Amino acid sequence: MKASIALTAIAALAAKVYAVPPSCFSLKLGYPCCSNASTPSVYEDSDGKWGVENGNWCGIPEQVKVCWSEKLGYPCCTSTSVSVFEDNDGKWGIENGNWCGIINGPTPTPTPTPKTTPNPEPTIDPTQYKINGNPFKGVDFYLNPYYVEEVENALNNLIDSSLRSKVEKMKTFSNAIWLDTINNMQSWLEPNLKGALAQHQSTGKDVLTVFVVYDLPGRDCHALASNGELLANDADAQRYKTEYIDVIESHLKQYTAQPVVLIIEPDSLANMVTNLDDPHCSQSESYYMDGHAYLLKKFGVLDHVAMYLDIGHAFWLGWDDNREKAAKLYKKVIDSASPGKVRGFVDNVANYTPWEDPTLSRGPDTDWNPCPDEKRYLEAVKKDFTSAGIKSVYFVSDTSRNGHKTDRKHPGEWCNQTGVGVGARPQASPVSGMDYLDAFYWIKPLGESDGTSDESAVRFDGYCGHDTAMKPAPEAGQWFQAHFEQGVENANPPL
Ligand code: BGC
Repeated sequence: MKASIALTAIAALAAKVYAVPPSCFSLKLGYPCCSNASTPSVYEDSDGKWGVENGNWCGIPEQVKVCWSEKLGYPCCTSTSVSVFEDNDGKWGIENGNWCGIINGPTPTPTPTPKTTPNPEPTIDPTQYKINGNPFKGVDFYLNPYYVEEVENALNNLIDSSLRSKVEKMKTFSNAIWLDTINNMQSWLEPNLKGALAQHQSTGKDVLTVFVVYDLPGRDCHALASNGELLANDADAQRYKTEYIDVIESHLKQYTAQPVVLIIEPDSLANMVTNLDDPHCSQSESYYMDGHAYLLKKFGVLDHVAMYLDIGHAFWLGWDDNREKAAKLYKKVIDSASPGKVRGFVDNVANYTPWEDPTLSRGPDTDWNPCPDEKRYLEAVKKDFTSAGIKSVYFVSDTSRNGHKTDRKHPGEWCNQTGVGVGARPQASPVSGMDYLDAFYWIKPLGESDGTSDESAVRFDGYCGHDTAMKPAPEAGQWFQAHFEQGVENANPPL
């Protein structure tokens, strides 16, 4: 506590004598507590926040935490302060798929009459939302409460505390919700569809949620880091259909009033274009093809759902011969699912390739690639896919980690690259003159690892041990604080 700070100027402001609140950090330092938690803070140090009352320093007490939601049958939130819904009782958040009351919200009003509108269990609305054109346009983007929780935990573990205000902002942007196992799908799909519906019912606005469908048998066939729970065999292919796709379908059919975007199986079809000489990929081929036909038929007839098939990135399918093969393959996949409709394609998922790179970023093995950045890649794919007869060719581009050129010397490096920076914020129709670009969106949540650097781990992939892969790195999907902080620091545009 810096007693030397002059108080004379502010002393005059304090006129009233307040009752001393129960307790606060400053008592033990010989200063009274301020009268309440909303006393303005004029100074902060490692002891806490200081205010001035009666010309004297006082310690601002922590806000009294009232768990108002418990008496309504819901727990208090423990780690989130992001409100997805507000009613007379207070602000509601979501944790572990359940509604919870945000404790520092408004002081509870006396026990209300039974809940009507503010409903953590929103009334299922049978209205059928119809996506007409770009599903990202004119809607609110749903905030993924799981990610908000991850960022809140990150705030408690900051390595570089000067990043605090930037990290705070990360909680306000939307990103995709990965249904990467049967269990995670069960935990995340319905609660978030419900959250979006509740938000819609309280704000009157349409609320878009974006999910990643990611559990194909033999997943990540050309790498190890994201190998999935289902293997490339008939029994697991059956589980994919009945325990995963059918369950997703049943929830989507129940929540029809809000728009939903599905990002379909990152990396899978791109592997079918270039990596069939890898036995893992050739063993997975029929399951990938059949899995796509199955899910596209089911989800492609739902009017409130729009799907984007993953097309890798510029330094995967950007070469002329790869794009030519890709056009044929994607056409075949889409045709196999008729009458299921596909809105378009998603590029750069979990990759680092810049949107525009005037320096071309060429390096070994990248000569002859006419698409040295994502923008030129999409321009070329638009042309090729349209000429191949694909009817609906629109794009979503993942910009969660491509704001800053990473340190990678070769654009084939995909694992936890150093020099990462968060890119353009999620937004609809972001580039004028490119009306086929539906959105920039954050698909891979910044801070979630690409793969472990532990060489003894079953899913250790050599790429995660390369020079420009940040280490030590946790398993794919687990929180990677140092990578996250670097991404925040290098954000472009800045946060
Ligand atoms: C992992 C998934 C994870 C996703 C998002 C993938 O690389 O394999 O488990 O959900 O990234 O972080």
